[in-house]
Amino acid sequence: MKSLTILGATGSIGVNTLDVISKHPTRFQVIALTAHYNIDLLFQQCLRFNPAYAVVSSENLSENLQQRLHAESSKTKVLFGKDALAFVANLDEVDTVMAAIVGAAGLLPTLAAIKAKKQVLLANKEALVMAGPLFIEEAQRAQTTLIPVDSEHNAIFQCLQGQVAPGIVCKSLEKIILTASGGALRHKSLEQLLDTTPAQACQHPNWRMGRKISVDSATLMNKGFEVIEAHFLFGLALSQIEVVLHPQSIVHSLVEYSDGSVLAQLGNPDMRIPISYALAFPERIDNSATRLNLLKVARLDFLKIDEKRYPCLNLAYQALRIGGTATTILNAANEIAVQAFLDGKIYFTDIAKLNQDVLEKIHSRPVSNLNIIMEDDNLAREIAKEMILKHYSAREMKRVRKKSILH
Ligand SMILES: NC(=O)c1ccc[n+]([C@@H]2O[C@H](COP(=O)([O-])OP(=O)(O)OC[C@H]3O[C@@H](n4cnc5c(N)ncnc54)[C@H](OP(=O)(O)O)[C@@H]3O)[C@@H](O)[C@H]2O)c1
Repeated sequence: MKSLTILGATGSIGVNTLDVISKHPTRFQVIALTAHYNIDLLFQQCLRFNPAYAVVSSENLSENLQQRLHAESSKTKVLFGKDALAFVANLDEVDTVMAAIVGAAGLLPTLAAIKAKKQVLLANKEALVMAGPLFIEEAQRAQTTLIPVDSEHNAIFQCLQGQVAPGIVCKSLEKIILTASGGALRHKSLEQLLDTTPAQACQHPNWRMGRKISVDSATLMNKGFEVIEAHFLFGLALSQIEVVLHPQSIVHSLVEYSDGSVLAQLGNPDMRIPISYALAFPERIDNSATRLNLLKVARLDFLKIDEKRYPCLNLAYQALRIGGTATTILNAANEIAVQAFLDGKIYFTDIAKLNQDVLEKIHSRPVSNLNIIMEDDNLAREIAKEMILKHYSAREMKRVRKKSILH
């Protein structure tokens, strides 16, 4: 039986993970569940899965949740704060950690799991974008198994079976091709992009996901982060990572080998497929995902990415070329930019501009330790916030910015 901590249990990945686990009660045991603020859902999950620990972000919420659980005679102990996240990622009785917190907040507990030699199922790509070299170094030192949950990297991981383990270069692999749906705004004109609302940007045509990753999909920053993720996870040079637009989200990614063979993983867009593969690896288990019907799909399209529409993708390549903390800086700027967009403070098209401005403003440094990463992460957040206040928030600047974006 596998015993698990699920970091980010109340999010889209967390809920899908628990859905798969619920179908295999003799195979998986839930030891700890974590959330940020959503204690209503966490309460339901605790009653259903009976974990030893639950973690939330604030003391007030932890007291509230603890009282509600006591009233139901639940034995779950509720903890709060960042140390508690690292604690449940590191428990002796846990062998596997699902890392599904969104954003930089996932880095420290995921690193704690790696150092404690847990098997890590990695959904939290921002942790890798933020601290790639350190992350992989720690994983190799601890000989931790890292299994990618992101559908594209999970697809590549599947196509690499029998060839290589994550982080180790496979000599017969020539390149990988990541597929991108193009996100919610693929059909909007450049002019219309400026007036996009958060609700529109989050309406992904193929996947149901959290708000941050949905916006990242619409800007293609998500795909940029996936390029960075693939670079670190599979030890690939930038020239070996291609991205193509694939609107149907059926082919989840491809690997090209030195004999010209191209292997792909296909399936309906349902995160329970990569999640169940990661959970049961190397076995395959039922996950209730609808089976792929090729006749119904009928056609698969592959298109070149329009760089003007998706400037964030190039920013990811640029940050990787700069190296050091440049990817940390890009990730931090993007988190601030996306939140500002979701809060109605900046325009959709400002996200890429702000990311570029912050990336250009801060000098990247070599990633020698975690302090440097945290310092540059903080600096990038501060500068991004300052820039938003000074240059981006004024709605009357709309016409000026519109002009500069379109020309
Ligand atoms: N969704 C997908 O299909 C998908 C696919 C591939 C990769 N991923 C990656 O998986 C990760 C999770 O994505 P998601 O879509 O599941 O996100 P989500 O739905 O927004 O859920 C995020 C989870 O993290 C928790 N959380 C948020 N901020 C936190 C903080 N500061 N401290 C502690 N916990 C925090 C949330 O708790 P509350 O619910 O209490 O806010 C929630 O449990 C992301 O890194 C994303 O890029 C997602």
